[in-house]
Amino acid sequence: MSNSSKSSAGMWAEYAKKIKKVSTLNDLEDIEQELFGRKQGVMTLAMKKLKDLSPDEKKVQAKELNEQKQILVEELEKLQNDLETPTGDVLAKSDSIDVTLDLPEKERGHLHLIPEFIRQAEEVFGRMGFDVFRGPEIEPEEYNFDLLNFPKDHAARDWADVFYMKKQTAPDNRLTLRAHTSPCQVRYMQKNKPPLKAIFPGKTYRKDDDATHSPMFHQLEGLMVGKDITLANMKAVMIKCVQELITQDAEFRFRTGYFPFVEPGLEMDMKWTGEDKTKEGDWLEIVGCGMVHPNVLKNCDIDPDKWQGFAFGFGVDRMVMIKHRIKSIRELFPGDVRFLRQF
Ligand code: PHE
Repeated sequence: MSNSSKSSAGMWAEYAKKIKKVSTLNDLEDIEQELFGRKQGVMTLAMKKLKDLSPDEKKVQAKELNEQKQILVEELEKLQNDLETPTGDVLAKSDSIDVTLDLPEKERGHLHLIPEFIRQAEEVFGRMGFDVFRGPEIEPEEYNFDLLNFPKDHAARDWADVFYMKKQTAPDNRLTLRAHTSPCQVRYMQKNKPPLKAIFPGKTYRKDDDATHSPMFHQLEGLMVGKDITLANMKAVMIKCVQELITQDAEFRFRTGYFPFVEPGLEMDMKWTGEDKTKEGDWLEIVGCGMVHPNVLKNCDIDPDKWQGFAFGFGVDRMVMIKHRIKSIRELFPGDVRFLRQF
């Protein structure tokens, strides 16, 4: 091998090294031009020079040059492939994206406990075939009370400590902030005929304000009406609900209670059981319930001789406090993510 061919072999090897360091398609194009450009390409010129050599020299050098050319072309093709479908390695080499960099950890949010609970409830009841309906938060007395079988002069209208709206349309049917979600029963049954089952989650308002009450709170009302729906069905649905949403480790009891829109009316209490002794304690009142009063069915144009059903109204804030053992309802208001993340 002649001296000139040795040094040119070194030069091609330099080019091969250079190609290996290329990290962008632009640089790749540059080096391609430098080597194979039609007029000035180093390789192009070297190829052109072959014709000046003697036939013997030409044979040797042409062979070697072709080999080097083959090597460089392969390197360039491989590189082009890599750059067009970048892998982690190639990306790490390029300065635009450094995939090896550690990023600061992202702060994660947390859904507030109340909507979290309501979403879970919608899922649990959804699986049992219950529809979801949300009624208005401003209701005339007619829906808050009259259609729910509250007599006009009934003391129970005080029971709710109702917020009346300043602006009034009719003196005998004043606008209120709804005191419970039970008006949704009427609204739903005016639109849907039995057999039916639905839940009504939402905000409710009363002039209560202490550690366990706030003027705005949430209820989850349930309603099921059919040909032969009984208290046994009610019990099964409500117990299932508490077991799925609060705990499997609980005992339940039912006491009589009074609400004008159910007959008989009941209240359900629960008590923690199971391994965790810190959760043991008294009976906790969690829900009012009962069989839908015939007058309510009548008010919705449903024949009480043909249809019957049950209704219940869970206090959502109360259930969330029981579930997470939160002492004051005030802790549910600031929405502090440090508080929420504990659960
Ligand atoms: N509306 C009642 C309350 O606010 C709860 C309830 C709902 C009771 C449905 C019976 C049936 O206390």
